[in-house]
Amino acid sequence: MHLLHLDSSIQGDTSVSRTMSAAIVDALRRSSGELELSYRDLGAQPLPHLTLPGFATPEAAATLDAFLAADVVVIGAAMYNFGIPTQLKGWFDHILVSGKTFRYAEDGVEGLAGGKRVFVALARGGQYSDGPAAAMEHAETHLRAMLGFIGITQPEFVIAEGVAFGPDQREAAITSALSRIAALQGGLAPA
Ligand SMILES: Cc1cc2nc3c(=O)[nH]c(=O)nc-3n(C[C@H](O)[C@H](O)[C@H](O)COP(=O)(O)O)c2cc1C
Repeated sequence: MHLLHLDSSIQGDTSVSRTMSAAIVDALRRSSGELELSYRDLGAQPLPHLTLPGFATPEAAATLDAFLAADVVVIGAAMYNFGIPTQLKGWFDHILVSGKTFRYAEDGVEGLAGGKRVFVALARGGQYSDGPAAAMEHAETHLRAMLGFIGITQPEFVIAEGVAFGPDQREAAITSALSRIAALQGGLAPA
């Protein structure tokens, strides 16, 4: 079982999404026999912005190959400016590749990467799951759209939100997310 773990927060050790993604990986490691782990810190080592020549680089090929080889992908995602970090978008720009992870057919688009199990640990400063800001949520929705496009139609989201609403709300959101993650134990289904 090959697990690809990605982080994209720029907030280093104080990052909520990093805490959650690490907890997911730990839970999966405990519940699965053999796990081959690859880690990429997109915040610390971002991929270059998308260019046509950039598709042909060894780094682009290695990034796509690492994704294709993974049975399980754990993505640490922060909400910045209502969307995902540009570093994480840059990674998706390298894995949404026609003929590799999706293809256009006569009757529409076919996702080719559907065999993977994908977890997303998403941290948001505000409250978007309900209330007036819901329409400004473009992180979870964008991630679901991109993953669904390549055939990953049931990504498993763990979301901590309201973390910018003061220390008590931050603590409560993190505690709630970590308890959901603890419940993942034993939940690692074969990809
Ligand atoms: C540059 C920046 C932009 C942010 N933009 C938003 C935003 O648009 N909406 C929001 O709810 N929170 C926003 N936040 C708060 C983050 O979502 C919050 O800090 C969250 O914990 C980020 O995940 P991380 O801790 O893993 O970096 C922003 C934070 C930073 C540093």
